[in-house]
Amino acid sequence: MAHGTTPDGMPKRLLILPGDGIGPEILAQARRVVEWFATHRGLAVDLREEHFGIPAWRAHGSLLRDETWAEIEAADAILFGAIGSPEYDTLPVGAREGQGLMRMRVELNLYINLRPVKALPVLAAISPVRPDVLRDTDLMIVRELTGGIYVGKPRGIETVDGVRRGVNTMVYSEPEIERIARAAFELARTRTGRLCSVDKSNVLETSRLWREVVQRLHDSEYSDVALSHLFVDNAAMQLVRAPSQFDVMLMENLFGDILSDVGAAVAGSIGMQPSASMNGMYAGGDTRHRALYEPIHGSAPDIAGKGIANPCGAILSFAMCLRHTFLRPDEAAFLENAVTRAIEAGARTPDIALPNRPAISTVEMGNAILRELDAMAAEKPAAVHA
Ligand code: IPM
Ligand code: MG
Repeated sequence: MAHGTTPDGMPKRLLILPGDGIGPEILAQARRVVEWFATHRGLAVDLREEHFGIPAWRAHGSLLRDETWAEIEAADAILFGAIGSPEYDTLPVGAREGQGLMRMRVELNLYINLRPVKALPVLAAISPVRPDVLRDTDLMIVRELTGGIYVGKPRGIETVDGVRRGVNTMVYSEPEIERIARAAFELARTRTGRLCSVDKSNVLETSRLWREVVQRLHDSEYSDVALSHLFVDNAAMQLVRAPSQFDVMLMENLFGDILSDVGAAVAGSIGMQPSASMNGMYAGGDTRHRALYEPIHGSAPDIAGKGIANPCGAILSFAMCLRHTFLRPDEAAFLENAVTRAIEAGARTPDIALPNRPAISTVEMGNAILRELDAMAAEKPAAVHA
């Protein structure tokens, strides 16, 4: 079986959904990188692309039409750009309901969200954190992605005794906690064997259960992993004060949303940050592996269309796809290296530019990374996989 193929020998299906805002600009560059791997490294990929969000509304009068949903369900992996635009406010009431990113996360059961926070020495100068504090930071946030307050019911805005109020519900079941904790323990075993679970068990019942389940799983099956627990407020502080102390950090949905932005700032720029959302750690298990890879920065409407967005978050998301869907950690590292080398050679979009030094465009950043890939391929041809 050739690498990167499905068990029946077919190439894996990769669906590109550029989405809103800067999504189309950055995904155009990520697409060139995918095509480079297909052409120059023999990656077996069945590449497709569909409108999603506002561009879909403009083209088809629907944010997510059935044909697109069928593509989403058939894909082994999705490379997603971003969602969010002021234009949603102009759509008919209800048009947006259940047609977005949350639908994919929940219906595809993408409960594992991996958000790496790695300090690249070449970006140390743009981090708000001192270089000596940042040094050796290389951690992974494991965020639960299909539960908690994002989906809990009841929810809504209601009027009680003439007073309006908003309601959301944070809820986690034991199996939901256990399956994400298991993913985090497994990941910790492949790294330095340390796991920090983040919660708010001094106040919240969901967090009390969370801590109990994580500790129990540790004691029964993962006692080789060094487990610690932190309250989320303290974790936020530690992430800024001493980020290099962490290896794998496990947390529920909303805490992970917030702390991953903190981590992104610490590492340098949110424009650099990739993520992977999956229904299992790696392709190749008993259940069909599905995954969605996306930069964490969002649609950035303020700079959309200007050609200055950083495509590195999207391109590094494809590197995670090489690792977790195509099972090619070697090619993932190869791509990550190319990105680092491009920046080292001076290729910097405005978000990662050095003070008083020129910045380049989204397309030029893509060019610079492709140039490095070509140069590296000349140095080290692709390994032959049978
Ligand atoms: C993220 C984003 C999303 C989230 C939004 C766009 C719904 O902020 O992936 O971090 O809150 O999960
Ligand atoms: Mg977020």
